[in-house]
Amino acid sequence: MKSVLNIAHRGASAYCPENTMAAFQHALDLGATGIETDVQMTSDGHLVLIHDESLQRTTGSSKLVKDVTLDEMKQLDAGSWFDPAFAGERIPTLRELLELVKTHEGILINIELKNGVVLYPGLEEAVIEEVRFQGMGERVILSSFNHYSLVLCKQLAPEIRTGILYMEGLYEPWEYAARIGANALHAYHYAVLPEWTTQAAERDIVYHPWTVNELDEMKRLLEAGVAGIITDYPDRLGELITRKS
Ligand code: G3P
Ligand code: MG
Repeated sequence: MKSVLNIAHRGASAYCPENTMAAFQHALDLGATGIETDVQMTSDGHLVLIHDESLQRTTGSSKLVKDVTLDEMKQLDAGSWFDPAFAGERIPTLRELLELVKTHEGILINIELKNGVVLYPGLEEAVIEEVRFQGMGERVILSSFNHYSLVLCKQLAPEIRTGILYMEGLYEPWEYAARIGANALHAYHYAVLPEWTTQAAERDIVYHPWTVNELDEMKRLLEAGVAGIITDYPDRLGELITRKS
C-alpha cells in the first residue's frame, strides 16, 4: 500500500516560525514526507516564501511583499514574532527551500501560489522556471485558491501536478478537477468523506486535506482514504501513519 503523505504546513509551524528555513528543516527532522509553503513575489521579481500579503504579522514591517525588494526583505527578522529563540530567521526564497529539499530523496514540495489577493503577473512562469531549473518537477505539487492560475500552470507545465485549494462542500469536485487537468483536491478537511475519496480515485484524483492538527480528525481522514494530510504537527501524523502501516 502506498504510504500516506505527511505534509508539513508552512514547515513544522507548530514548533518554529512558519515558512522559515528553521521550520522546513525541523519538518524534515520530525519525519515529514512533504512540505507545504506559500510563494509570493518581491518588487524586483524574486520568489519568496511567506503566507500573508503584508509583512506585518511575521516581521513587524508595515509594507506589502509586492512593494519590497529581496535585499530589503532579507533585512527583516521573520523569527522573533514566534519566539526570541528564532531571532534572525529570514524570509526564504523558493530556491533556498528547493536546494534544501533536493538533498532529501523523495520529499514532496507543495508550493501554494498566493495569488488570490495580489495577482502577481508572471508568478506561474517564474515558479515553473525555478522548479524546472532545479529538476524537481516530479516532486512538486502546485496549488492555489486561484483556479485560473492552476489552469495556466497546467498549460505551461503539463508535467507538474496541480492541486485545487477550496473550503466549500463542492459537488463532485473530482469532475471539476478532471476538467481543469488537476491531479489533487486540497480540500478544507471538513469537506472530505470516504465515499468521495473513492469516487475521486476512479478519476485518478487524490485528496490532500488541510490543515489537520487533531489526532481524531487525522484518524478519520486516514480511514476515509486520503492520499496525504497537511498538518502543523508532522510528528503527530507520522506516529499515526507508522502505527497504521
Ligand atoms: O495549502 C493548504 C493551506 O496552506 C491553505 O491555506 O491560508 O494556510 O495558506 P493557508
Ligand atoms: Mg498555504
